[in-house]
Amino acid sequence: MNRRRFLAAGLASLGTGCGLPNVRSGTVSPRVSVVDVRRLVVERTDPIAGRCRYLADLGARQVAQPILWARRGESFDAVIDNALPQPTTVHFHGLTLPEAQDGAGFDPIGPGGRKRVRFEVKNRSGLYWFHPHPHGFTAEQVHAGLVGLLIVTDEDDDALDAGLALPPGNRLALAIADIRVAGTAIRPYAPDPQDCLHGWVGNRSLVNGRLDASWAVAPGWVRLQLLNACNARGLLLAFRDGDELVRFHLLGTDGGLLAAPRELDRVFVYSAERVDIAIDANGRRGLQAVSLEFDPRHHAQGAALGHAHPERAHHAPLAAEAVCESAPGGQGERPADGAELPLFSLRIDGAETRTPPLPGRLSALTEAAAPPGAETRRMRLDFDERAGFVIDQTPYRADERGFSVRRGASEVWEIRNSPISMPHPMHLHGFGFRVLRRQGTFGAARKFATEPGGRFATDLGVKDTVLLWPNETLWLALDFGLPVEPAFRGPQRYMFHCHNLEHEDGMMMRNLTVV
Ligand code: C2O
Ligand code: CU
Ligand code: CU
Repeated sequence: MNRRRFLAAGLASLGTGCGLPNVRSGTVSPRVSVVDVRRLVVERTDPIAGRCRYLADLGARQVAQPILWARRGESFDAVIDNALPQPTTVHFHGLTLPEAQDGAGFDPIGPGGRKRVRFEVKNRSGLYWFHPHPHGFTAEQVHAGLVGLLIVTDEDDDALDAGLALPPGNRLALAIADIRVAGTAIRPYAPDPQDCLHGWVGNRSLVNGRLDASWAVAPGWVRLQLLNACNARGLLLAFRDGDELVRFHLLGTDGGLLAAPRELDRVFVYSAERVDIAIDANGRRGLQAVSLEFDPRHHAQGAALGHAHPERAHHAPLAAEAVCESAPGGQGERPADGAELPLFSLRIDGAETRTPPLPGRLSALTEAAAPPGAETRRMRLDFDERAGFVIDQTPYRADERGFSVRRGASEVWEIRNSPISMPHPMHLHGFGFRVLRRQGTFGAARKFATEPGGRFATDLGVKDTVLLWPNETLWLALDFGLPVEPAFRGPQRYMFHCHNLEHEDGMMMRNLTVV
């Protein structure tokens, strides 16, 4: 490219790139069956603001930022093409996969590289997702827009939609991210030491890639499957109709449907957690989804660390920082976790209908219980002045052996978050788990502990990511059974880490090997 063309291209992308994403409404995100994906391209669309996307190549056509649908038992078999200037992986968050397909970052795909990924979807119906997981680059790449949704369906899911008599268009899958907007520009991802300590928090929400997102739905039940795709921000999700907080029903969590719905007027959804909810739109004109204000409980102070990954020395950041940093509006205030944030709106048009009663039974999920004879494994989450946030005082090393668990074993994990700390959404690859009990929950959050054992409503479901407030101790029940199939033979390595992505890149992660 000669110099003049290079400048023209740069300015063209500055126009759309550094500026705000188009505000479009009512667009239904493209639904793609997993079996149709031949290639998944990971590409940067805007080198100025550093925005990226997934492009699904279906052979006959290409779909940007697809929403993947899989029937339980269907297979994904596609080539991942890394067109980024950084290493990447595609991790399928929440799925039970063999190590070789988990995309956990042990084996990143270099810039310009490719890798074939094949697996069968074995999990219950629910909202899962995929995102990059290369050590030291995860936070930057997810923030850049590399978040994909994967909806798994099965008979329970079919029965629920039939029971809700869902009008077409009333089922939405939404990834809620946040970005920093100053003036008319997106601030590129450039965390300072304070951001590395608390996590990168934005001042505007981006839902399925759109600012001020809005969807049109019909009166009747609306089923929303929502992912908190923010790097670090917690969401206290609620729905407003004018001044009224509209009640809704929690149907499911990370790993699928609850046994029965739970009525709520707000629900915490932390980074990487998902909720499946039903809300009755009958008799309303519109609903505004918001994150209500809450006490974020960030107690950690002290030496904050930058990213220390040696790999980062070899690859430039995704954004041309200098350009956007000088955008009008400047740096502005640091946005705070826990501040109220509008998320998206639903416009309700059409003839009123009679909303059918909510099904009383959603799945055969049983009450969480500690399996008899299960061993208890104890872990501590701490802040270390020099190392930052650590699990069991051990900063992450990719080559560490980490924890070993026996294949097929049942365990209870007792995880204690230190009192001078922050909320840590802890995530385990490969295995869903159940929450048995919470202890030490602070006052303001304790009012959400409506279930036996001090648990929150979301603790009733299958989880793969669970929040620990400072000073809390959680007891989890885990089952390390793996499918008896060649792909799962031999030791399988997974990860347990904080899904505050700045903490994850900051080494708050451990390996776990199923032997
Ligand atoms: Cu959502 Cu280790 O990942
Ligand atoms: Cu994961
Ligand atoms: Cu954390």
